[in-house]
Amino acid sequence: MFAKNLRLGHFVCMTENVLGKTRTFYSVAKKDSPRILITGSLGQLGRGLAKILREKYGRDNVIMSDIAKASWDVLENGPYLYADILDFKNLQSIVVNERIDWLVHFSAILSSVGEQNVSQALQVNVEGVHNIFELCRRNNLRLFCPSTIGAFGPETPSNPTPDVTVQRPKTIYGVSKVHMELLGEYYHHKFGLDFRSARFPGVISAETAPGGGTTDYAVHIFHEALRTGRYKCYLRPDTRMPMIYLPDCLRATVELLEAPSEKLNLRTYNISAISFTPEELADAIPKFIPTLKMEYEPDERQAIADSWPQVLEDSNARKDWNWQHVYDLPGMTSAMLEALAPKGKISASSML
Ligand SMILES: NC(=O)c1ccc[n+]([C@@H]2O[C@H](COP(=O)([O-])OP(=O)(O)OC[C@H]3O[C@@H](n4cnc5c(N)ncnc54)[C@H](O)[C@@H]3O)[C@@H](O)[C@H]2O)c1
Repeated sequence: MFAKNLRLGHFVCMTENVLGKTRTFYSVAKKDSPRILITGSLGQLGRGLAKILREKYGRDNVIMSDIAKASWDVLENGPYLYADILDFKNLQSIVVNERIDWLVHFSAILSSVGEQNVSQALQVNVEGVHNIFELCRRNNLRLFCPSTIGAFGPETPSNPTPDVTVQRPKTIYGVSKVHMELLGEYYHHKFGLDFRSARFPGVISAETAPGGGTTDYAVHIFHEALRTGRYKCYLRPDTRMPMIYLPDCLRATVELLEAPSEKLNLRTYNISAISFTPEELADAIPKFIPTLKMEYEPDERQAIADSWPQVLEDSNARKDWNWQHVYDLPGMTSAMLEALAPKGKISASSML
């Protein structure tokens, strides 16, 4: 009998000759890194997370997926696959063929878009989530699935909002996220699924566009301030909401994903960073762009924002897995403008 080994990425392809018969089979090479699949990875959060995880665990151990065609830039930076979360068989084949260990589930229809298309939100955020839980249970995967401040509602204490409290959201997005949180906790207790979730505040990012949430103004304002010097905000100036700068949000994701299971006293954690109103953000920007003109014209997103928390209470995340944010309002504002401004548009001294 002889065995010939040929390394193919993370597999070892072995050819064995037993009593004159040749047999080829795949065996897993010694595994020192988890193999990670990210669903919905072409959205606001996915690319940045893939970059961080690839730096830690190796380029080919982190597989991005989505239902849209990826840019060349994405394809050049590591594996990318088509994966519709409504297609269970395809998900199962990816998990088997790619020997996935951890799954980061980012596919979702966000709050504002969800209100415009409730049946699509139900399909993706409920049916899709059922597929993901079953997939992770059957294949023994660790699952990180973010929740949101939108999982709370007007009856929730809003300042501060604790981890465990009344959750009666008024959007289909919020309702589906409460369903996801409860199902995740149920699968954890019933089947031992290693489910982890963080309730993200509104995410502010420079490189990637927001995907249709109620907190998107806090990204659009920077683009418009630089492009036209004016911004018309769809919320009232005094609407306070929790927010987080993308690098903090991605670090929270990685830290919770990697935390030892025995340290997690909860499976769904609030995480908090900055809390501000449109007026406070607009006051922070003129330090860099003195000519910014603001207008306010609330639309249907105001009612959603009014039903959400103003400040999240996140002491459990800070205690259990040492969560700490880095960016405050001035830090986030200057980092956003530095990332977005054409060279020379904002003077170096004003960035100090
Ligand atoms: N961005 C935020 O401010 C924020 C705040 C709180 C929580 N979250 C949560 O974080 C996660 C990622 O958010 P994001 O901002 O990157 O969202 P996004 O809307 O930017 O991206 C979502 C991605 O899901 C994909 N998708 C839609 N239908 C799909 C399907 N059937 N199969 C596979 N993929 C599909 C879309 O193509 C898109 O690329 C979501 O679960 C969201 O609820 C985001």
